[in-house]
Amino acid sequence: MTQIRPEPTTNDAGIPVESDEHSLTVGPDGPILLHDNYLIEQMAQFNRERVPERQPHAKGSGAFGRFETTGDVSSYTKAAVFQPGTKTDLLVRFSTVAGERGSPDTWRDPRGFAVKFYTSEGNYDMVGNNTPVFFIRDPLKFQHFIRSQKRRADNNLRDHDMQWDFWTLSPESAHQVTWLMGDRGIPRTWRHMNGYSSHTYMWINAAGERFWVKYHFKTDQGVECFTQDEADQMASADTDYHTRDLYESIERGDHPSWTLKVQVMPFDDAKVYRFNPFDLTKVWPHGDYPLIDVGRMTLDRNPTDHHTEIEQAAFEPSNLVPGIGASPDKMLLGRLFSYPDAHRYRIGANYKQLPVNAPVAPVHSYSKDGAMRYTKVSDPVYAPNSKGGPHADPARYGTPAGWHTDGDMVRTAYTLREDDDDWGQAGTMVREVLDDDQRERLVDNVVGHLLNGVSEPVLTRAFDYWRNVDKGLGDRIESGVRAKRDEKDPKAADQGNPARSSMQHKA
Ligand code: NDP
Ligand code: HEM
Repeated sequence: MTQIRPEPTTNDAGIPVESDEHSLTVGPDGPILLHDNYLIEQMAQFNRERVPERQPHAKGSGAFGRFETTGDVSSYTKAAVFQPGTKTDLLVRFSTVAGERGSPDTWRDPRGFAVKFYTSEGNYDMVGNNTPVFFIRDPLKFQHFIRSQKRRADNNLRDHDMQWDFWTLSPESAHQVTWLMGDRGIPRTWRHMNGYSSHTYMWINAAGERFWVKYHFKTDQGVECFTQDEADQMASADTDYHTRDLYESIERGDHPSWTLKVQVMPFDDAKVYRFNPFDLTKVWPHGDYPLIDVGRMTLDRNPTDHHTEIEQAAFEPSNLVPGIGASPDKMLLGRLFSYPDAHRYRIGANYKQLPVNAPVAPVHSYSKDGAMRYTKVSDPVYAPNSKGGPHADPARYGTPAGWHTDGDMVRTAYTLREDDDDWGQAGTMVREVLDDDQRERLVDNVVGHLLNGVSEPVLTRAFDYWRNVDKGLGDRIESGVRAKRDEKDPKAADQGNPARSSMQHKA
């Protein structure tokens, strides 16, 4: 058998090195020499291996694949990626939200579902989650929300008291928290969960007509979830279970796929629909806006270098292509700023030139220079110019994907519609979507979560919060918590119960 001879090691300048094992010293027992450039390069590069982890969504992984448009939605959008028969390469990254880069994949948390379509008219990023709604509806609360889910200042621990304090003071979170505490709060694998745009976006067809859309990527593997016990066991048995599952399934040729469907709302319906269609804490019931088939996404290629292909991947909701636009969803509008800003900090000013972020569509921009730029710029470097530089084409691309807006400047929530409240859709899920077993597990999950460090007055607020979602559910959660606390530690239970504490004070 012929032995494959490895290439000789070089340093980063391609110069062959003298040893993989020994630094340069004065005699075998003497000091190390400063001109051992290879040793210095090794130490210096190592010290710079980490880029800052993503602020939220730090733990995750992904894979490459393609999207094939099998349906015909051309009457709603002119986007090249969604024209019948079009095949588009893509990258997907799945993630948890609150945990750090080394945290367990199976913690209860929403999952990120970020898709970068390398379309013929530029990169289109659909940066969604595995849930159709979110905890808040105003971007000013996002930073506070994420801090409440991460770690305390004093002991650097995650803290359920802090989480419930924020949630119970933010009743708009009820729909998402109900979803999170239910079965789907811990997917069995990334392959077994759906993805949603959550936000409403705009689609524009070739005639310039506008529509509102919500995306639903339905898993072709079927929805499967872990119970809390299974997830807890997996968190210690295999911290990276979801990462491993995706990688191994693609390696063995079992390529996961999702069918993309959309709900489409005629432009003018938005003015009169019974829910504010741009409020991220609400879904559009399927009975009002049924799902329409668009196509299929398949993942069939693993990254070979996690850092350059996944860690440095920069997904940004602001990457919108002709035929797709934003909507008046305030959260979405806030996100359009936040992500490119995060990428410039986390990866660097020229992050869009990295191969994983670079479009297949040609780039004719006027950006230039900056750290680590390597795509060459040519004159003219300004516009307008009469020197043959690129010209915007208003006749073809000049109509912004926008809507009419007017009014005084205010700081206020959306105007309420007929059916808008914070509890209604969460209650519908509890009463009409979940069966008895699912409701039972929801109660158990909430009780377990509340018993883990949540104290008064947050606890009492949490019981009221759940009663607002559904009276019976709230009652069951309160009696579950009281009973388990009495069992575990009767004294602590007395302290936590305002009725009992006041009786003790009187006595
Ligand atoms: P439908 O009966 O048409 O839809 C119910 C939805 O609930 C389905 O999409 C289903 O997903 C999903 N679902 C099933 N089990 C769970 C679970 N344990 N946790 C979370 N979602 C689950 O009813 P409506 O469209 O009228 O919506 C009723 C309620 O369903 C809403 O208030 C909302 O809470 C929830 N929901 C609605 C969605 C929507 O976009 N309309 C999407 C997801 C949830 P699947 O088809 O995969 O089984
Ligand atoms: C990641 C901000 C709401 C999905 C991030 C990152 C930031 C951020 C700064 C890290 C980006 C990076 O470093 O690459 C915000 C803000 C929000 C918001 C300001 C609200 C105002 C949402 C919502 C969703 C979402 C509503 C889903 C519908 C994601 C996903 C990632 C992410 C999937 C990870 C992307 C990846 O895999 O690289 N968010 N976010 N975010 N966010 Fe948000």
